[in-house]
Amino acid sequence: MTIVQNGTLVTPGGMLQADLAMEDGKITAIAPGLPAQGAVRVDASGCWVFPGFLDGHTHLDLNNGVMNTADDFASGTTAAVCGGTTTICDFATQDKGGTLMDALAAWKQKAAGVSRCNYAFHMAITDWNERTRAELGALRAAGVSSFKAYFAYDALRVRDDELLEILEAIRPFGGILGVHCENGDVVNAMQRRAIAGGRTGVENHPRTRPPEVEAEAIDRLCWLGRMAGMPVHVVHLSTALGLDVIRAARRRGQTVYAETCPQYLLLDESRYLLPGFEGAKYVMSPPLRSPNDVAALRRAVENGEINTISTDHCSFRFADQKAFGRDDFTKIPNGAPGIEHRPALMFSSFGGVLNAMQLCDLLSTNAAKLFGMYPRKGALAVGSDADVVVWDPGAQWTITAQNQHQAVDYTPYEGFAATGRAKYVFVNGILAAENGEPSRVCAGRYVAR
Ligand code: URP
Ligand code: ZN
Ligand code: ZN
Repeated sequence: MTIVQNGTLVTPGGMLQADLAMEDGKITAIAPGLPAQGAVRVDASGCWVFPGFLDGHTHLDLNNGVMNTADDFASGTTAAVCGGTTTICDFATQDKGGTLMDALAAWKQKAAGVSRCNYAFHMAITDWNERTRAELGALRAAGVSSFKAYFAYDALRVRDDELLEILEAIRPFGGILGVHCENGDVVNAMQRRAIAGGRTGVENHPRTRPPEVEAEAIDRLCWLGRMAGMPVHVVHLSTALGLDVIRAARRRGQTVYAETCPQYLLLDESRYLLPGFEGAKYVMSPPLRSPNDVAALRRAVENGEINTISTDHCSFRFADQKAFGRDDFTKIPNGAPGIEHRPALMFSSFGGVLNAMQLCDLLSTNAAKLFGMYPRKGALAVGSDADVVVWDPGAQWTITAQNQHQAVDYTPYEGFAATGRAKYVFVNGILAAENGEPSRVCAGRYVAR
């Protein structure tokens, strides 16, 4: 048995000065002054104790058609636990012409035995047909209840009529569909124009994916959701325009879940104007936006309009992978690292305005609820899984590529002065990281939902 003593627990019922006991992977008791004889004692004096943080949007060991992400499940989940994340939802992606069950099996194989944190899979549907529809029952039985569809990327996207059918097909079992909201046809046309006009530099990445491209796609998703009688989930929201569209749909009475990411709350499009090829580090889709967009999204986080903050971690090395697009920005692999730093970035940046309960909701509880894991995950409660983070709110440290565990040669947050750090991180009751360094154990398990 392990007992976390003297901490302030962030529980569903509020903040609680109490001890927490864990045994056999579960939380077994929460009360002040628990008897600790024979138990491993963990001192949480001066610390907050949270349910493990949950990153609802990661891409590990992903092949983008040209190359593999820098992080696989071994390095990515090592980085995750060092930062306090104990569960990720990664994306299993159906091959065109392939089956959903094959995709799930392939992703489980990538993660099994090497993952230091727990892992669940959203299923990205790229080939919607009668065979795919017929697999949904088996997929549900295998523990997958959340799905993803793309409005952009030619190799991944589905048509509007297909998206409507997917929404209708997952409705009977309470599935949820997250959608990458960018108008792919418009992006393609703008990219063709830019390249034909000799505009090949990094700064053209955001110019060919303007805010309207996101807002239009979110609007389309919301109307399709209304036609299907389904809630929808907007992933990686990046613009004030898109936020306004979500507000309008909510005013109509629709349920629209909104996810954003640290990069859209902390960084802006000026990064694309950095000298040389430096801007390539920030090539992701959707792109970084204007300071006004950043401010609007930050307000939305503060006033409760954003449901979850995930990373969209999708890492490519600067030196030899981002370099692929040196002469043509459309060839720069899309995505940036973040899985290790999300909790520290958000505590540092919102710690003055949001309390520990609100941060817990944004970083753990809301995603657990949305993706069918609550209260097994996302709650400090007797019977819940023993995924526990002892958080030192006063720790001061600096984020650098040199001290990170993400297997990539840069971080978008180089030099960020962080306040707050995961002191002890338990995955299924086993110590997975301490003071930002991993233990030797791989305690992560597949989370069937
Ligand atoms: O640029 C990004 N975000 N790459 C990852 C795939 C996606 O769109 O989520
Ligand atoms: Zn996406
Ligand atoms: Zn993504």
